[in-house]
Amino acid sequence: MTNAPQDVAASTPFLTDVKTLRERARKNLETGNVTSTYRGDVAQTIEILQSVLATEIVCVLRYTMHAVTAAGISSEGVKSEFAQHAKEEQAHALEVAERINQLGGTPDFNPATLLTRSASQYEEGGNLVGMIRENLIAERIAVDHYRELIRYFGDNDPATRIMLDGILVVEEEHTNDMHDLLVAHEGKPSFASP
Ligand SMILES: [Fe+2]
Ligand SMILES: [Fe+2]
Repeated sequence: MTNAPQDVAASTPFLTDVKTLRERARKNLETGNVTSTYRGDVAQTIEILQSVLATEIVCVLRYTMHAVTAAGISSEGVKSEFAQHAKEEQAHALEVAERINQLGGTPDFNPATLLTRSASQYEEGGNLVGMIRENLIAERIAVDHYRELIRYFGDNDPATRIMLDGILVVEEEHTNDMHDLLVAHEGKPSFASP
């Protein structure tokens, strides 16, 4: 006779008992928080996070360059928006670098290979509208990339996923900010009406 699904579920404990948890935690201390319940592929997670780190660093550089060089009438508000975004991208870069370190990797800040690892691009944009447009494009790339990564990590690495959830929320705000600025400076809505 085979067990009904509910019998199997009833016989498999949902939580590990405290004694086993304590014993397991005492073994393999050198792996830090990559314990036996880590379901992801650590090497792959680190590699993915290196690309997220590069993406964030490129965003810091692009926004900083734009914040300094944006010129023209009504550029002050835009400049301060660029500067604010640069600061937030830097906070993301630090969060991601910390996570790589927690997983036993070394965060890659090597400028020589930055653009090959980054999903976003370093585009100067030219005039004020060109800059806003390039930042909007970069934010849309980040949003698409991070949404996919969040689905990929799922329950295999909840801490990495939750970190990316938080970053995604800010990237969506950035996208919205850039979209609003583009509308304000081009005078027409970019979204199709519902
Ligand atoms: Fe970011
Ligand atoms: Fe952003």
